[in-house]
Amino acid sequence: MEYPKASQVASGLEFLAETGSTNQDLAALAKKTDLPEFYTLVTDFQSAGRGRLDRVWEAPAASSVMASVYLKPRFENTSGIGWISLLVAESIKRTIQDLGVSANIKWPNDVLVSGSKVSGVLAEVSQDLASVVVGFGINVTQEAKDLPVQTATSLLLAGASSLDRDVTLAKTLSNIKVLYSELAAAKGDAQACGLRQQLLDSSATIGQMVEVTFKNQDSVQGRAVDIDDSGRLVVKTDAKTLLVSAGDILHLRANEKDD
Ligand code: BTN
Repeated sequence: MEYPKASQVASGLEFLAETGSTNQDLAALAKKTDLPEFYTLVTDFQSAGRGRLDRVWEAPAASSVMASVYLKPRFENTSGIGWISLLVAESIKRTIQDLGVSANIKWPNDVLVSGSKVSGVLAEVSQDLASVVVGFGINVTQEAKDLPVQTATSLLLAGASSLDRDVTLAKTLSNIKVLYSELAAAKGDAQACGLRQQLLDSSATIGQMVEVTFKNQDSVQGRAVDIDDSGRLVVKTDAKTLLVSAGDILHLRANEKDD
């Protein structure tokens, strides 16, 4: 499909009718070409869509926004890179709110509507740490039967005021640009530019009892109390305080903010 509005916001936008993974494609393209920041790849269908923690991301053809954006952060404060995934989740949350639907963020990268996941973000940093490909999927027109899990939802099911994928992508890219330039102006300091406070306000996780499962399958339960200056989730258990940079988070009780 055409993305005329999103093309106006991106610094170059390429549409692929079908591909494996836009994150993989964009990372490969960036190795061959000197891409500008905000260069964007978007597709109608992925056969090997990648999610966090080695999961897959699946959506029926033309049912969602699946895009990847190229960034070259030159932050003096290197902890800023840890905020990119959260920054993009916040951008998507703002897009959804703009479409008349209340949303919040399950740390680190899930955008929720009434406790159900409508969008996920995957930020992948290059080996030399010089660039980031940040990809996101936003479920748009899926009916309940089209969703991969019962805990997912779509803009259609949430009653959004527009189901136009071009509008959704254009708004999201604009929001990313604003938040990213604020973070860059603050030299990567998420506290100084207000991004940390934004994420605390948007968080469905802070204040919750959570179970954190790590990559090695160890898990721990505690209360999520803060997001630190590197974007890590601060979890207090009976025995200690943990700084979680990667892990699967389960909210142990229904969240009052998930409405
Ligand atoms: C997650 O929730 O685990 C993150 C999902 C990220 C999916 C998007 S879809 C576009 C981009 N290309 C990919 O292969 N993954 C991201």
